[in-house]
Amino acid sequence: MTTPWWQGAVVYQVYPRSFDDADGDGVGDLAGVVRRLGHVARLGADAVWLSPFYPSPMVDFGYDVADYTDVDPLFGDLATFDRLLTEAHALGVRVIIDWVPNHSSDRHPWFTAARSSRDDPRRDWYVWRDGRPGGRPPNDWESTFGGPAWTYDPLTAQWYLHGFAPEQPNLDWSNPELAEAMLATLRFWLDRGVDGFRIDVAHEVGNVPDPPPGVASWPREQDWPGGHAVLRRVRGVLEEYDGDRVAVGEVYVLDQRRLASYVTTGDELHMAHNFVFLRCAWDATAFRDVIAEFTRLAPAPAWPAWCLENHDHPRLATRYDDDGRGPARARAAALLLLGLRGTPFMFQGQELGLPDAVVPPGAVVDVDGRDPERAPIPWERPSVAGPGAGFTTGVPWLPIVDDAEHLAVAAQRGDERSDLALWRRLIALRRESPALGPAGAQTLLEGEDDVLAWLREADGERLLLAINMSAEAVRCDLTALGGGPGRLVVSTDPDRVVATDDIDVLGLAPDEGAIVRLT
Ligand code: NOJ
Repeated sequence: MTTPWWQGAVVYQVYPRSFDDADGDGVGDLAGVVRRLGHVARLGADAVWLSPFYPSPMVDFGYDVADYTDVDPLFGDLATFDRLLTEAHALGVRVIIDWVPNHSSDRHPWFTAARSSRDDPRRDWYVWRDGRPGGRPPNDWESTFGGPAWTYDPLTAQWYLHGFAPEQPNLDWSNPELAEAMLATLRFWLDRGVDGFRIDVAHEVGNVPDPPPGVASWPREQDWPGGHAVLRRVRGVLEEYDGDRVAVGEVYVLDQRRLASYVTTGDELHMAHNFVFLRCAWDATAFRDVIAEFTRLAPAPAWPAWCLENHDHPRLATRYDDDGRGPARARAAALLLLGLRGTPFMFQGQELGLPDAVVPPGAVVDVDGRDPERAPIPWERPSVAGPGAGFTTGVPWLPIVDDAEHLAVAAQRGDERSDLALWRRLIALRRESPALGPAGAQTLLEGEDDVLAWLREADGERLLLAINMSAEAVRCDLTALGGGPGRLVVSTDPDRVVATDDIDVLGLAPDEGAIVRLT
């Protein structure tokens, strides 16, 4: 069996609103993505995952979909999407798109029809229930964004379910027509040539509010058997197509046994984002435990997907910024992400070491306050390109990060000490190294408590990777760690000179990561 492309890929998440604005309205668009594809290709990424660009009232910035088979005019049109696909493929970059099967927008024509009458043929495409006595909702489920997960609709005197905002009604996958209509939206994009899907809240899909017999109540985010059945059907659709089309799920469960259940049967998701990993404290033992546990629960042929940033979480440089150490930790985290066995998913701007933007209370626009990590990419120095930092000639929809002058792509390009240069170096090494590729075996090493160390090996190549997650410098005896002498090939410390001599002891500064080629 040949290795599918996505096992060797680095996937770069594009949040289209904040990537590049080609038409000057202050919001990024697909034409902007097209003109910056060169950046992604030069970085060495193999695929982009595009967050939603579908027609949407934007209550949840596109995760409220009003049409699953079109492009919102704010972002462009289908012709621009096709151009994006063609140009990406010409550069060797695959395209994964976001698919939101748990809920639509309340403005989707399906929901407009469903809410119009209890007898509408689309009524049961959504989850409607009678309330409890006293005008109370059908159960006590809460929505992720706060408040009840039910909204009363006076016209038909029933409540509808929404795991997120009231404007995001849940789809009822037990309805066969709805299921067929949604699967047809996958085929629409597969026929156009997309390489796969990132499936939004994959663990919530297919949940219904009626507990199994004998169970008094049931949590909303539970992964019901019905959801696994939906994912098997999704996998079946992907397998109608050639080219190893891929499904990666956002499986936001913090129990790795449940997480593993989505990727171990071989007929559901190909990969699932691991939020236990994303939410880990900056602590070597904690990371080691998460990696070891997932590896044990999801052995080959299951395949891990690692990510440490996305559009829903504070940036690494901010999240791990105790004592101002965030930027160094973000660099070390790049080595972690790119050095592990599995597919790394990175978020746009992570390669620049961007922190969160400062968003004054009056500028907050997201329902859940996730604006800081969604700040636009600074492509140019503001002193050269003006306050839009090359992202827009207009007024950016969210503030640009502080210090865009030094963090901008144009400022980092050509600077060997920059984060951008480190990411390029690491991705290039990953590409040429058998040990870091899909066939590379991985062994977690026991040594210093504060040092996360692991070995990757294939075809006679042996690489030792180590990150010092403490505030003190450490010395790692390479032989005691299970290695032996070797040569330093990468350090995440911009001040470290990578010499060509063999070393027996690897000294690591606080929050430094390094790769040693064992000789
Ligand atoms: C997860 C998405 O990443 C997030 O941005 C969104 O708000 C929810 N799912 C609801 O679709």
